[in-house]
Amino acid sequence: MAKLKRPPLANILNIIKKHPNNMADMFETMMLQGKPIVRVPSLTPMYLINDPDCAKRIIQQPEDVYIKGGKYFDRLAIPFGQGLVTSEGKLWQQQRELIQPFFHAKYLEQYAKIGIKLTNQLMDTVWNDHANKQTVFNISDEMMRLVLKISAGSLFNTDFGEDTKKIIHCVEFGQKFILGYYLAPPTIPSIPRWQYRRLDRYFKKVLADIVETRRVSTNKPDDILTALVTTLDPETQQPLPLELIFAQIVTLLVTGHETTGALLSWLWYELGLQPHISEKIREEINHELQGEPPSLKNISKLKYLRMVIDEALRLYPTIWTIHRYSMKEDNLAGYKIPKNSIVVVNPYNFQHDPTIWQEPLKFDPERFNKTVICPRHKMAYFPFGGGHRICIGKNFALQQIMLILTTIFQRFDVHSLQKEKPQQLPLVSLKQLHGINATITHTKRL
Ligand code: HEM
Repeated sequence: MAKLKRPPLANILNIIKKHPNNMADMFETMMLQGKPIVRVPSLTPMYLINDPDCAKRIIQQPEDVYIKGGKYFDRLAIPFGQGLVTSEGKLWQQQRELIQPFFHAKYLEQYAKIGIKLTNQLMDTVWNDHANKQTVFNISDEMMRLVLKISAGSLFNTDFGEDTKKIIHCVEFGQKFILGYYLAPPTIPSIPRWQYRRLDRYFKKVLADIVETRRVSTNKPDDILTALVTTLDPETQQPLPLELIFAQIVTLLVTGHETTGALLSWLWYELGLQPHISEKIREEINHELQGEPPSLKNISKLKYLRMVIDEALRLYPTIWTIHRYSMKEDNLAGYKIPKNSIVVVNPYNFQHDPTIWQEPLKFDPERFNKTVICPRHKMAYFPFGGGHRICIGKNFALQQIMLILTTIFQRFDVHSLQKEKPQQLPLVSLKQLHGINATITHTKRL
């Protein structure tokens, strides 16, 4: 058998100089330096995969070669525990089987009603005020809070009320801390570590109250929280440990609101730059819905809006990086991937690759026009991942984004004030460092 080659080393110094504070762009430049694979200088052997066939093998692969593991997941497990994102093997499978049914059609319909109700509540109160007083407000913060409320209401029948803002702060601070944003390793005593622990205690206390209230409730709703507090461990026949229940709630809350909230925020920025796209969305909504409020049924007619969302997910895949850990030596396109290496497969890179996408940095929803046939590799576009670890919340996220946008477009015109590209904050999800300022006006009715 031919000897396997060693992937070339990325020229990291040049890359750091070019993008000192942005890991997503650093990896993107590394992708432009080498195909199909480049070696990333790192203490643990790390390889950036830049070839769609190799990416396919890793993401949709035989499970015994690439698993979730390594330093990235060790760090994620600090706040996420052994939840769905970070667990592996039998524990992951049991949890996925427990939670998956809550993302089936019957539940998605309930979540849609909750989403519409909460969006209208926000529009009736805070947004009406913003429009009447012509306030400049941070629309990114409001999207984040709205989506957290919808996720908490849909998945756990709960409302964090006054705690909402602080929970969002905990989530962002926790990610910055574990991903080395404060340069303090999570294991060594430091001020950020002390702050993290304080916030973590606060968050766990909020969750403990919610779990306890549900445990003792005599009228438990049919939702994920009830499933978590009533399910018995198949082996011990005991209730699931509190730690595991917390891990699932934190995982679903964080993945559920950050990804979707950040995506909406990127969208408002792009729509602010290209008002003709907003006009087309509004025309479509007026034409297809004829003033009817949005529902799960009628939003399926909004083909152009869906193209806009697909394009936003291409340019800003909010889960921008996917990591796996090799359990065995592997051959990827003739290159050797040693056992115990980290492999990085970034939707951000593939979805910005100029050899796959024309003018990749241009926001152009027409790329997703289904009437124009444009064959692409399956791994040219995978904002929700793939294989058995595909995003459990994909349909929930897409319907939420469609419903929120349709509700807003029927009631308000949003005027984003952000004309320069916002500075990115690539944590677990791809956010903006400062968010987007905007004003709104009431839409003229049909
Ligand atoms: C725009 C919105 C979203 C995007 C772009 C997104 C993207 C992704 C991606 C790429 C993965 C795969 C990660 C990997 O393979 O390592 C993933 C996994 C996951 N997502 Fe999402 N997601 C979104 C919304 C949601 C929502 C709304 C929820 C739940 C309420 C959710 C829950 C999860 C969970 C639990 C996993 C782990 C699944 C597993 O490993 O079994 N996501 N997501």
